[in-house]
Amino acid sequence: MSPKPANARLRLTVNGDPHDVVIDQSRTLLEVLRQDLGLTGSKHGCDLGECGACAVILDGQPVLSCLVLAVDVDGSAVTTVEGLATDGRLHPLQEAFADLGGAQYFGVFEFAADAEAEHEVRVVLG
Ligand code: FES
Repeated sequence: MSPKPANARLRLTVNGDPHDVVIDQSRTLLEVLRQDLGLTGSKHGCDLGECGACAVILDGQPVLSCLVLAVDVDGSAVTTVEGLATDGRLHPLQEAFADLGGAQYFGVFEFAADAEAEHEVRVVLG
C-alpha cells in the first residue's frame, strides 16, 4: 500500500479573487479550479496537453492547466474563461464562440493575450 499523498496549502488569486485551499499535492491546477473552486469553464479534454480545453492565464502567460501541479503555482494569479467577462458582459471572444456554438474555448487565452491576434480570430470566426 502506497502512502497517502501529503496535503499542501495553496493560495491563489483567481479572476481577481483570493483563495486559500488545502489540496492533495498530486492534484493539477485544472482539478483545483474545477473541483475546489467550482470554476468549470476550463475543461478536461485530453489531459495530455494536446487539446487546449484547459487553458488558463497564469501570471500573464497562457498555460495548459492539466499539465500544471497546483502546488507549483502557490501565490500566483490565474485567469480562467469565467474571468474574461466584465460587468456581467461576455468578452467578445466568448460571444463569438457562443454565437457559433463553440462548446470549448480551445486556445482562446493564447489569442486573448494579444489584441491583434484577437482581431484575426474574429475575422476567421466571421
Ligand atoms: S485537457 Fe487537453 S490540453 Fe489540457
